[in-house]
Amino acid sequence: MSDAASTGFSADWLRQREPFDLAARSASLALGFRAALGPQNPAAFRIVDLASGSGANFRALAPLLEKDQEWRLVDHDPLLLAAQRSEITRWASGQRWHCHDHEGGLAIHAGPARWLVRSQQLDLARDLEDIDLASCDGLVTTAFLDLVSAAWLDRLSALLVRTPRPLLASLTVDGRRTWFPTRPADQLIADAFLSHQGGEKGFGPSLGVRATPYLAAHLAVAGYQVSTQSSDWHIGREHSDMLLNMAQEAATVATETDPSCKPAVSSWLADRAADIHHGLLSLEIGHLDLLAVPHFPVVK
Ligand SMILES: C[S@@+](CC[C@H](N)C(=O)[O-])C[C@H]1O[C@@H](n2cnc3c(N)ncnc32)[C@H](O)[C@@H]1O
Repeated sequence: MSDAASTGFSADWLRQREPFDLAARSASLALGFRAALGPQNPAAFRIVDLASGSGANFRALAPLLEKDQEWRLVDHDPLLLAAQRSEITRWASGQRWHCHDHEGGLAIHAGPARWLVRSQQLDLARDLEDIDLASCDGLVTTAFLDLVSAAWLDRLSALLVRTPRPLLASLTVDGRRTWFPTRPADQLIADAFLSHQGGEKGFGPSLGVRATPYLAAHLAVAGYQVSTQSSDWHIGREHSDMLLNMAQEAATVATETDPSCKPAVSSWLADRAADIHHGLLSLEIGHLDLLAVPHFPVVK
């Protein structure tokens, strides 16, 4: 299931979106995160990934961070936590890297670097404060902040003030969504999407597309140096499965938001399915990446 239509996320959906995420991520903010971790320190980087799903953030960042690393992948969903092992093993064997069990986690030997990955089940809505920032060097999260509320981001900011650590929050939706070619009902679909973004996803009323500017402003006031960059999905006409998935999701969200618009939405979906079938449709979805680095010394 995709992001906007549900608060449940299947491993299949996360696998489908992973290459689009990978192409969209800001490389310069990821390198800024690496610099903030202190690469000259010989010890392994210790990274916590909030709402890690099946481990896509680890797969994207570990090769960029290069040296030895210890990751804690935190999520509340037992199915996704269970999928981490198979997804990471499949990815590593595609790179010809050796994996084996090690101290309750999975060790990956990637050339000269060794990465140790452990999974942790935690309800971040309830137990965010159980994350021990003092025992990690940096915090990351991907495709998550648009689900949470202002109150939850205040809690995250409070943690980061109490224990300053670099934060890389990638791929938060920012509300831009453009279908090519355009059709008159696109606006109806876009309005429904924006209104659904403000719904409840288990964390109180979600900030949706306002999450990145909200967190950026709060961390800047708290003394962090904050940078944001766009990390948009470009879904070309050759990606018919992904386009159909996005069009169906948009239609579901629109009818959930306003059942009275069902006939207009059904007609829009039929037109979009025809566009996809004829290889005419493409889609851009706006996201933002955020890097926040403490100005003040990080005590480890
Ligand atoms: C869109 S998915 C992103 C997953 C992963 N970061 C990725 O990029 O593939 C959102 C993730 O948030 C997790 N999530 C939602 N509510 C949560 C909660 N209360 N506690 C922990 N994780 C949660 C979901 O299980 C899911 O893995």
